[in-house]
Amino acid sequence: MDLEAGLRRIPDPGPIPTESEPALVERIRTEIASTGPMSFARFMELALYDPDLGYYRVPKERPGRAGDFLTAPGIHPIFGAAIARQLIEIWERLGRPEPFTLREYGAGSGELGLTILEALAGRGALGRVAGSPGLVAAIRYAPIEINPHRRTALVERVAAAGFGSILAADLPADRPAVGAVLANEFLDALPVHRVRRVGDRLLELYVDWDGTGFVDRVGQPSTADLAARLTADGVTLQDGATAEICLEVDGWIAEIAAGLERGVALIVDYGHPATELYGPARADGTLLAYSGHRAHDDWAVGVGRQDLTAHVDFSALERAAVSRGLTQLGLTSQAEFLVGVGTDELLDAVRSDPDTTMEDWLAVRSALGRLLDPKAMGGFRVCVLARGLPGAAPLAGLSFRLAR
Ligand SMILES: C[S@@+](CC[C@H](N)C(=O)[O-])C[C@H]1O[C@@H](n2cnc3c(N)ncnc32)[C@H](O)[C@@H]1O
Repeated sequence: MDLEAGLRRIPDPGPIPTESEPALVERIRTEIASTGPMSFARFMELALYDPDLGYYRVPKERPGRAGDFLTAPGIHPIFGAAIARQLIEIWERLGRPEPFTLREYGAGSGELGLTILEALAGRGALGRVAGSPGLVAAIRYAPIEINPHRRTALVERVAAAGFGSILAADLPADRPAVGAVLANEFLDALPVHRVRRVGDRLLELYVDWDGTGFVDRVGQPSTADLAARLTADGVTLQDGATAEICLEVDGWIAEIAAGLERGVALIVDYGHPATELYGPARADGTLLAYSGHRAHDDWAVGVGRQDLTAHVDFSALERAAVSRGLTQLGLTSQAEFLVGVGTDELLDAVRSDPDTTMEDWLAVRSALGRLLDPKAMGGFRVCVLARGLPGAAPLAGLSFRLAR
C-alpha cells in the first residue's frame, strides 16, 4: 500500500470488514445477469448511491471517528475557521454582497458548514480571528447532500446552533447566486470508469460475477469519451497501466458554473494534474476502498459497506471549468492554502485565549500537524475557480508557496 493510502486513516484500525450488503450484491448480480458485465462507474454508482442500499444513502454516519474515515472538518474546527477567513476575503472582494450564498457540496451532517458559521459568528477562540459580523449577517448557507438522513441531521444541527434563519437547504444547485461553492472530499467519490493500456490499445475494466464474487473483465471501451479524455489531458498511459477516469466531473462543473453568478469555488480533494495522475508513479491507478479506518485496494468486498474513491484529475476539472466561463485562479496544496489564510493567527488566538486548556492546545497542535503534513491531508489539493472576482492580487489561500 503506498503512502497515499494513509491519507484518511487513523492509527491501529483493526481488521478490514469484508462482508457485503447481501441485497445490494443481489441487485448488482441481477443487473449483470440481464445486461452483461457493467462498467466500473455503474458498479460504483450502485455500491455508493443505490437509493436504498448504497453506502452513501443509508442512515449510518460515514466520515467521523465512529465511521470509516476522517475528513479535515472532523479533525478540528480550525479547518472550518481557516476556510471562514478565506470566505471573508472573497466576500469583501465581491463588494460585500447580500446575500452571499455558500453552497457546500457533500455537506454531510454539516460539520464543515457549522464550523465555518461558528467562526464567522465570532464564537470561541478561533472566532476572534475568523469572525465577521457583516458576513454572518449576509451569508445564506445552501448545503447539497444526497443522503436524506445526513440532510435531516444537518438541518437540526444548524438550527440548534442558532443558524436556522440563514439555512437555504432547498435552493436549487444551478440557480445563479453570488457567493462561494465549497466541495471538500466530494469529487473523489464520484463514479469512475477504469481503463487499461495493453500495447497500443486502450481497454476498459468491467465488473462481472464469476459465480462466487465480483471480478474484473477486460473489454472494449464503453464510450469513446474515455480515450478522448486522456487525449485532451495530453497523456498516454504506459503499457500495462491501469487508470480511473471520472466523466461525471464535466456535468458537475456545468452545474456549479450555472449556479455561480459571481464568486469563487474552493475544491479540496486528493488528486493531481493529469501528467502526475496518469504517470508511471501511479501505474496501478488510485482506486481505494475505505472501511473501518482501513484503506485497501479490494473494491470487490464490502459492497455497500465500504467507501470507494479515486484521485481527482485536476487538469480535466480545470478544462471543464474554463469551458464553462470560469477562471482558474490556482491549484495549491492544502498545507499552503491553510498557511496562506492564516493558521499562525488561528493558533495564536487559541494560545492566548484564557479558556484554552492544555488538552485544547494539544488537540489543535496535533490536528494542525495532520492538516498540514504533506504525507497526510496537507498533500490534498485546493483548486480555486472564480467568476467575476475583482482584484488582481492572489487570494490569501493562493499567496503562500513552500519550496519544492
Ligand atoms: C467523503 S464525504 C465528505 C463529507 C464532508 N464534505 C467532509 O468533508 O467531511 C462525501 C459526502 O458527499 C455526499 N455525496 C456524495 N455524492 C453526492 C452527490 N451527488 N450529491 C450530494 N452529495 C453527495 C455523501 O453523502 C457524503 O456526505
